[in-house]
Amino acid sequence: MTERLSRWRGTNVVLDTTWGDSGKGKLVDVMAQRAKMVVRFNGGPNAGHTVKNEHGEFKFHQIPSGIFNPEAISVIAQTVAVNPNVLLGEIAELKAKGIEVSKANLLVSEEAHLIMPWHIQRDRLRETARGEEKIGTTGQGIGPVFADRTERVGLKVKDILDPRLPEILAKELAWQEKLTQLMLDTSEPQYDYDSILEDLRKAADTLAPIISQVLPLIRLFHKRGNNILGEGAQGALLDLDLGGYPFVTSTHPTLSGFSQATGIYANISRIIGVTKAYQTRVGEGPMPTELENEIGATLRERGKEYGATTGRPRRCGWIDIPAIRYGAMISGVKSLAITKLDVLDSFDEIRICAAYRDHGHDYKFGYPDTMARAVPIYINLKGWREDTSGAKDIRSLPEKCSFYLTTIQELVGLPVEFVSVGPERNQSIYL
Ligand code: GDP
Ligand code: IMO
Ligand code: MG
Repeated sequence: MTERLSRWRGTNVVLDTTWGDSGKGKLVDVMAQRAKMVVRFNGGPNAGHTVKNEHGEFKFHQIPSGIFNPEAISVIAQTVAVNPNVLLGEIAELKAKGIEVSKANLLVSEEAHLIMPWHIQRDRLRETARGEEKIGTTGQGIGPVFADRTERVGLKVKDILDPRLPEILAKELAWQEKLTQLMLDTSEPQYDYDSILEDLRKAADTLAPIISQVLPLIRLFHKRGNNILGEGAQGALLDLDLGGYPFVTSTHPTLSGFSQATGIYANISRIIGVTKAYQTRVGEGPMPTELENEIGATLRERGKEYGATTGRPRRCGWIDIPAIRYGAMISGVKSLAITKLDVLDSFDEIRICAAYRDHGHDYKFGYPDTMARAVPIYINLKGWREDTSGAKDIRSLPEKCSFYLTTIQELVGLPVEFVSVGPERNQSIYL
């Protein structure tokens, strides 16, 4: 890392160190003002990235959060699953608010997989069938679409521009119905070929100009040293391979996901891990610091912790350092952005989980397989009980608040470069 975050250049990647929803959308919107290219590189419409700026409040599921910089090109990489209806809805919302969307500022990889109605249906049915053992997915068809990709079936974005779309769709539908009959209760509704074809043709009308090969452009920007910003979705502990399986998503929210999407393995100047000042998780799976009490409820209310995609209440608890250390390690994170610090303004006492105790031993590193039985070991700090939401620099934060940040920095072992004290762009502190 050579320069301060406020003057970032080269290729920078924004990731989440734990279970998502840390404010990646906000940081990407802020950083994108210096970007020439912003790449959404994993997941799909399971993500909900909130951006609040002079244009209003937006919750992006598909479009990169850098879209408000008219000088930058936002790219949906081929490793992202695309639901054309969700994408069309977001383009329409931006246009309604006066934001131009064209191939000059948005490109969708032609090689990305399409999320179809049967993926969403399969996701829902599988979750219901799992009962108590459900994953708590977002219901956006993510598991099924990436299962199809791995099985090497399914439609790609480029298929909607293919003159043979009617035949391609008919073949895919026949295949999916065969699978459905094999796998599911045959009383499930059959898919309506005509209406699906019409939907795809409508999507093609709007999307045709922005569907493109994106890799050559990404490579060119990287070679030229243009500012590229990677926007991760989800969080490291939801990584399919290195997260807490099976309570994970189906892609790679880590640096490897960025490299897989872009072919960029070297000359990455910054990998910044976005970390909430406390912990949240949505969906099932272990969460050692979860507070199912009044404190958890206060965090939820003050932090407005309800899912941006599903509206589900998020599980809340104190910051979990062992989880962050593990997440930062598997994502290659080199520095931290601490967000939602203002949410802690009202607490008399604030706790930090510094280690896990398991079978009489203390661990500073939170491997996911230990989380289900980990007992959090806390450090207790006095709260600052002052409004931080107007703080403009690190010196204007209360002393106890700075001590909280320093303690996190020391326990994680990574420098804090950015602190967020509210959802708006100007509620940002660079260190
Ligand atoms: P993402 O998925 O990582 O982009 O995060 P989400 O958008 O799902 O959730 C973050 C939520 O917190 C959004 O509602 C943001 O507007 C809000 N937010 C972001 N940063 C801050 C902050 O520093 N303070 C407060 N109070 N809210 C914030
Ligand atoms: P952003 O990008 C938080 C969680 C789901 C579930 C698991 C699998 O906004 O941070 P999936 O639908 O992907 O098959 O669900 O992953 N999950 C998220 N949690 N933020 C997200 O995205 C998430 N995307 C998926 O709740 O536990
Ligand atoms: Mg989110």
